[in-house]
Amino acid sequence: MKVIIEHLDDEIYDWSYIEYRHIYSFVGKENLIFTNLERNENGKNNRIKGYEKLKDLGELKVKNIKKIKTDIEKKYGKICLLDPKAEKILSPKDKKEFGVFLFGGILGDNPPRGRTEKAFGNLFEKKNLGNVQMSTNTAVLVTQQIIDEGLDFSDLDFVDEIEIILDQDTDEQGKPRNYSQILPYRYLVIKGKPILPDGLIEYLKQMDE
Ligand SMILES: C[S@@+](CC[C@H](N)C(=O)[O-])C[C@H]1O[C@@H](n2cnc3c(N)ncnc32)[C@H](O)[C@@H]1O
Repeated sequence: MKVIIEHLDDEIYDWSYIEYRHIYSFVGKENLIFTNLERNENGKNNRIKGYEKLKDLGELKVKNIKKIKTDIEKKYGKICLLDPKAEKILSPKDKKEFGVFLFGGILGDNPPRGRTEKAFGNLFEKKNLGNVQMSTNTAVLVTQQIIDEGLDFSDLDFVDEIEIILDQDTDEQGKPRNYSQILPYRYLVIKGKPILPDGLIEYLKQMDE
């Protein structure tokens, strides 16, 4: 499955990089393209901060997908945008129609602000993966399960919120006390475990110090 991540935030944050590295780990460098990697500042186009970190993960295209849509479709086939606000759900049958799957490279916001819809408008045919917001890496993983593994969305298991324990101590009475962060997004569950990218928990603990 060919994947395009249109990076929409203004730099490659550490959290975004952790998600992108996860996507690379299961789709492979040869199937991953990052687009929209420059911003116009004072009349000059500059590559965004952290651009070079992506070189080992996939093919880099500085232009946005709207500008290179025709070239991409000539090379790989029709683009399918994954958007929580799309009317129809992605199904294994869509493998025949689409050659490449497009995702917004955006960190989630709670409540969701419909940024995918705002960023792409109606330029692409679109499908949803349910109406609950997932992280970009989870959305790609779920798409892979549907398109490459042929599973229906209804066959997959999810959890809609995860609590990450960042630190533990004991209170005045000696009872264990947790310090945690809630991730208010939907995660795929495989063999009873939510799938999180390598390094995310360590990153959140480091941020908490
Ligand atoms: C963290 S989400 C961004 C959601 C953003 N807050 C919004 O409101 O659109 C990052 C990307 O993952 C994909 N995605 C996440 N959840 C999805 C869902 N339920 N259905 C389809 N695509 C989804 C979309 O491509 C989205 O741009």
